[in-house]
Amino acid sequence: MTTTLRVTDVARRYTLGKDNHVDALRGVSLEVRAGETVAIMGPSGSGKSTLMHVAGGLDVPDRGEVWIGGVRVDAMTDRDLAAVRRTHIGFVFQGFNLLATLTALENVALAGEYAGAGRRASLQRAEAMLVELGLADRLRHRPAELSGGEQQRVAVARALVNQPAVLMADEPTGNLDSENSADIIDLLTRVNRDHGTTIVLVTHDASVAAACGRLVRIRDGLIEGEAG
Ligand SMILES: Nc1ncnc2c1ncn2[C@@H]1O[C@H](COP(=O)(O)OP(=O)(O)O)[C@@H](O)[C@H]1O
Ligand SMILES: [Mg+2]
Repeated sequence: MTTTLRVTDVARRYTLGKDNHVDALRGVSLEVRAGETVAIMGPSGSGKSTLMHVAGGLDVPDRGEVWIGGVRVDAMTDRDLAAVRRTHIGFVFQGFNLLATLTALENVALAGEYAGAGRRASLQRAEAMLVELGLADRLRHRPAELSGGEQQRVAVARALVNQPAVLMADEPTGNLDSENSADIIDLLTRVNRDHGTTIVLVTHDASVAAACGRLVRIRDGLIEGEAG
């Protein structure tokens, strides 16, 4: 299988002031192959979100290489990096991050427009994605009119509307009860199966991790071990 994401000996230090810094990643290497489902687990503050941001091109490391879809991105300009990100990666966050004034359909369509698709095409693709994810009767609802589970499904639709090779989800079920968590995981598993989308997610929930093909453990900014 081809490698779709790779970080090699990546370090990321947050500088808070003179002599005051946090080494969030201290030399992490990880290779994700196309079509895999990977769970990342670790204590709070261990560097999971930082790793997701660096591996997904939202943040750049201080050291090490980052490859997305066979392209080295760690030394790219912001503009070039944003273009790689838009075409290769979809992000889902714990807090859904939907725009409150837009409907579900508009939230998803906006991601298509940002990626350069026209408004009509974006709306059509957004509708198809929301229908596929079981939200056909929620297209015109605003986030406040949706349950948490539904909001997260809209966020997944938004992440997938540009057909990224990789979906990265940072604690996607962290704000959901167990039933809605199970729904989201079923959905991600189905997307992986039906579209071949590679999935990398962070979770504290062992049942979520168990649904993934690989489990990577991180602690104190280092990969501690791997199962699966
Ligand atoms: N923007 C930031 N500025 C300063 N420190 C940060 C920032 N983001 C994260 N950190 C610190 O880096 C470490 C790793 O954070 P993070 O990657 O968010 O961990 P996790 O997602 O595993 O909880 C923590 O000690 C955290 O406090
Ligand atoms: Mg985090």
